[in-house]
Amino acid sequence: TSAKEVILTRHTGADAGILTLTLNRPKAKNALSRNLVKDFRAALEEIRFDNDARVVVLRSSVAGVFCAGADLKERAGMTPQEVSQFLHSMKMAFRELESLPQPTIAAIDGAALGGGFEMSLCCDLRVAGPRALLGLPETSLAIIPGAGGTLRLTKLIGPSQTKALVFTARRLGPFPAMAMGIVNDMVEHPECMDEGKPADQEAAYERALEWAREILPNGPVAVRMAKRAIDHASTVDPSTGLDVEQLCYAQVIPTEDRLEGLRAFKEKRKPIYKGC
Ligand code: CAA
Repeated sequence: TSAKEVILTRHTGADAGILTLTLNRPKAKNALSRNLVKDFRAALEEIRFDNDARVVVLRSSVAGVFCAGADLKERAGMTPQEVSQFLHSMKMAFRELESLPQPTIAAIDGAALGGGFEMSLCCDLRVAGPRALLGLPETSLAIIPGAGGTLRLTKLIGPSQTKALVFTARRLGPFPAMAMGIVNDMVEHPECMDEGKPADQEAAYERALEWAREILPNGPVAVRMAKRAIDHASTVDPSTGLDVEQLCYAQVIPTEDRLEGLRAFKEKRKPIYKGC
């Protein structure tokens, strides 16, 4: 069943370097089952060590849903020990997503609830489609966000806004999600209804691809090192943060790409980076 519930697509031609990871479990609205998480982790391992992978877009194949969170039906049949084991593997999967060296973009075209929302918080950027619905409904299920939501959302929007969402279990559409700084970009309804524009469920993905294409021509090692430095910036003290930035900078100095950037500037042309 591997790679069926999570599909990894490598783009070609002008988009070579973009990888799309598609959650594909329509019958359960992409709910995170043991099997889906296993497939997801296998795909992430492939991406992590792929030197040609420059930008990763995470999307859903299911109309109106990004991911419905933990599989509540599978959960009902688990012993407490199995629940703990499953939560552990889900948290590992999220850490693996968050720590991918490449930039990641979540295209959210529908419900991203509980674990589904927490998964999107492990991406570097989020794009909301017209039907995006983001929320942490856990307290309405008499549990609390258990896959990093309390930490990652707090880092993103602060404790008070996070409490507002968690205490109420409220679901946010694209506008409030944008206003609260949860998503970087959104696609409004009218735009997707224009002639020639992609259908609703594709809108967030198309926009996410636009972001990916904007990242793609930049120095691959530089983008990876920038991600690393920025990720450390919010977790370590300022002097360690500056030290990490310097260490990351040191990684780009010996690259061919850095010299190509200088040459291209001098010759007034676009640089062509190789990722080394
Ligand atoms: N687990 C298992 N099955 C789920 C599911 C879930 N989280 N979410 C949806 N499904 C199933 C439904 O039971 C239904 O199955 P049947 O056809 O067999 O009845 C099927 O998917 C379709 O669902 P809906 O008819 O509800 O579809 P919809 O389009 O009307 O609504 C939805 C979609 C908004 C995602 C809605 O299904 C929903 O609200 N789901 C629950 C979301 C939720 O509460 N998630 C939080 C889980 S807790 C968590 O994630 C914490 C953690 O441990 C990390």
